[in-house]
Amino acid sequence: MRAAAETGISIPKLCSTDSLNAFGSCRLCLVEIEGQQGMPASCSTPVGEGMAVRTQTERLAKVRRGVMELYISDHPLDCLTCSANGDCELQDMAGAVGLREVRYGFDGENHLDLEVDSSNPYFSFDPSKCIVCSRCVRACDEVQGTFALTIEGRGFDSKVSTGPGENFLDSECVSCGACVQVCPTATLMEKSVIEHGQPEHSVITTCAYCGVGCSFKAEMKGNQLVRMVPYRDGQANHGHSCVKGRFAFGYATHPDRVLKPLIRDKTSDAWREVEWDEAIAFTANRFETIQAEYGRKSIGGITSSRCTNEEVWVVQKLIRAGFKNTNVDTCARVCHSPTGYGLKQTLGTSAGTQHFDSVREADVIVVIGANLTEAHPVFASQMKRRLREGARLIVIDPRGIDLVRSPHVEARHHLQLLPGTNVAMINAFAHVVVTEGYVDEEYVVARCDPESFAEWREFVQRPENSPEAVAKVTGVDAQQIRAAARLYAGGPRSAIYYGLGVTEHSQGSTMVMGMANIAMATGNIGFMGVGVNPLRGQNNVQGSCDMGSFPHELPGYRPVTDDTVRGTFEAAWQVELDAEPGLRIPNMFDAAIAGEYRGMYIQGEDLAQSDPNTQHVEAALDSMDCVVVQDLFLNETCRFAHVFLPGTSFLEKDGTFTNAERRINRVRPVMPSQTGMAEWEVTQALANAMGYPMNYANAAEIMDEIAALTPTFSGVSFDHLDAVGSVQWPCNEAAPLGTPVMHIDQFVRGKGKFFPTEFVPTEERTTRRFPLILTTGRILSQYNVGAQTRRTPNSIWSPEDVLEVHPHDAELRGIVEGGLVAVSSRKGETTLHATLTDRVPPGVVYTTFHHPETGANIVTTEFSDWATNCPEYKVTAVQVLPASRRTEWQERVHGGKAQVVRI
Ligand code: SF4
Ligand code: SF4
Ligand code: SF4
Ligand code: FES
Repeated sequence: MRAAAETGISIPKLCSTDSLNAFGSCRLCLVEIEGQQGMPASCSTPVGEGMAVRTQTERLAKVRRGVMELYISDHPLDCLTCSANGDCELQDMAGAVGLREVRYGFDGENHLDLEVDSSNPYFSFDPSKCIVCSRCVRACDEVQGTFALTIEGRGFDSKVSTGPGENFLDSECVSCGACVQVCPTATLMEKSVIEHGQPEHSVITTCAYCGVGCSFKAEMKGNQLVRMVPYRDGQANHGHSCVKGRFAFGYATHPDRVLKPLIRDKTSDAWREVEWDEAIAFTANRFETIQAEYGRKSIGGITSSRCTNEEVWVVQKLIRAGFKNTNVDTCARVCHSPTGYGLKQTLGTSAGTQHFDSVREADVIVVIGANLTEAHPVFASQMKRRLREGARLIVIDPRGIDLVRSPHVEARHHLQLLPGTNVAMINAFAHVVVTEGYVDEEYVVARCDPESFAEWREFVQRPENSPEAVAKVTGVDAQQIRAAARLYAGGPRSAIYYGLGVTEHSQGSTMVMGMANIAMATGNIGFMGVGVNPLRGQNNVQGSCDMGSFPHELPGYRPVTDDTVRGTFEAAWQVELDAEPGLRIPNMFDAAIAGEYRGMYIQGEDLAQSDPNTQHVEAALDSMDCVVVQDLFLNETCRFAHVFLPGTSFLEKDGTFTNAERRINRVRPVMPSQTGMAEWEVTQALANAMGYPMNYANAAEIMDEIAALTPTFSGVSFDHLDAVGSVQWPCNEAAPLGTPVMHIDQFVRGKGKFFPTEFVPTEERTTRRFPLILTTGRILSQYNVGAQTRRTPNSIWSPEDVLEVHPHDAELRGIVEGGLVAVSSRKGETTLHATLTDRVPPGVVYTTFHHPETGANIVTTEFSDWATNCPEYKVTAVQVLPASRRTEWQERVHGGKAQVVRI
């Protein structure tokens, strides 16, 4: 079938589709092969040298018509009113085989009365239209890796099943939609298509949720988005998606969106809706007044990892050139800043080493502090495929994440360490590498800095770093650590993937360097199947960091203190730039409380919900004279804001996002801006109002400036991206198509540098008063603070954050399944419902932070990474006790004051 297709001959088919393995069940693709008996199925017959095949003969036509007659005799005859009319392969094939009549009539036994399953909020399953081609089952198995579907029964009784007595909603299904996409009939169908009809045109764009950066065809009817179809040529996702990207786009047109600017003198006043001109003038005036009274450095801003590179660029430029200081930081501070620091120090660049496809060649995969199936689901599917092919898996995580054991995937080792002991664990791995002869001496001699290697080798072989010593600290058996370390070191191709469970610790940067150390020592950087790979949380974390959002770095991670680099920007921007690194987010809060920092431009970030130690954050925000929030919805931070500048959803944006693998993807507008302004235009207007001229005509011009001033982006332009699809930076003259794998012949910094990584326990310790460790994470159906996903039907799966408690800890405290509990730390207290599970070990409790009502960050502390101030979200000492009612603290924070969110 494939060979025929490549020569331009199409063969009728139903059960086959090129995203799935050949199956050979529908018998529509039969062919005749010279010298062979019978009529083999062309989809499952390998082509051979000299094979002579007939794809159209009288006999074949007759058999195919007969097959089709049987299908149609058990199919509703409602094509004209069917939602798939015009986009149905069964209909197409009936035409292709020339079906004119059904000799069997329609009165025989059939499936036409089977009940429709509408339980899933996004798609329906109408078994009366099913031809039992198994495409859906195979998509769920092969592409998604969830194995939620099966064909139940035999012969005439065969039917697609989600499990005994279960509907889609209650089954193992994770609503990725892969089955819906491959279904050749209207059996599995998006409800949005049923409601709006078949789309008329489409635009290729990029998902705005997580750092996987999936490409989609946004299929439209006029300005109505009908469905998002994962784009086959998307180089990050290869035609797959998760529930968020495919289905959870309704927030973009949710009635909660604020489309007009709002201003107010004091936060106790009601908001006043104004035109853009007034809002811009008001903001500029406030900022200028503050600077006149308190000095140039009394204001600043933060950029958003949810916004495009172009939008981020203009905000950091506004701060540097318009505010004339370096008080710029980004929400990436609270997630992956240790990645930037650790990888820059060791390898020379602040980004992951590989592209996603690299995992296809990994023999050993180590997943540390990352819950891929929830937070990076499309890459998780790709990784699971490799694991099913035989790659071996090591999971280092306090929690029993799905990857540890799921259908056809089982980790060889799950090192269930105590939160906060990552560095001790990586040192034990290094100890095994060094003392058991696993160092790739040739690689190290050729590519690494000898002095730092010698120092590191001496450090890691010390007895305190042995698995036996570390076992006491981590709570993991020494033999298990040794076995896992040997597995990693033996590879031959070993790859590390990690997430916020690595970075959001007081030693986040140390751990990143620790992973780079062992990857270099074992020669596991610089080719396919290996590397050290951060899984970025938000869609444009990589990009917002690349765009110069840090107070000490200009775009491209170059120090503001470097006169030459700064001179380039000064020449291009025609302004003198501050050479002194400004305030990081936590320093901004401290300075605000001290009365020195009084105005802040907050691009797309809900500081009051997402940053740690809520009381401190709120006190800081409350003490400022001008807080400006640019966002889609009035969020928690808006309680302290004086100006609200309505933002645009990804469906209205024109620009680029850079995903976790450094891939720069185009984001194209599929509908006009609902606010009348692009976000970069708003920032530009503010810069102009404050006396610094900005005159971009469009987003492409901003990218041209980025390319001109950032060496790793020098080959990037909208035209180039439109021509080649996407590129991974560095993209320049030497690598016009980008750089999928970095550090191939040598490290970006020249010689790879080792750093001793002494384990220093966090100061956040359990005590008699707070005897448990709280750690946090994400869930598939919700996203970060939930501002988007809570405004979609995704909330059906996770209407609230719950606290996971080990049954042993629960019993000690009288906590029951579903009971309300109070979680208290030395910083604050919150209440939520408990669920009892051995996913968490005794002594550890876990929750998500998607719902403002939970206020998980009320309890998190001020501790942060020593190098970057990334908050230590993953370790908070708490007590958990049954609570019969909302506590006083909870009432004070949320009673009557929290934003009401309509779902
Ligand atoms: S639901 Fe669709 S894909 Fe699945 S077996 Fe039926 S017709 Fe085929
Ligand atoms: S939506 Fe995804 S997980 Fe659910 S049954 Fe279909 S393929 Fe499987
Ligand atoms: S995996 Fe991430 S980028 Fe891809 S569709 Fe899901 S949320 Fe969007
Ligand atoms: S397409 Fe070959 S048997 Fe169905």
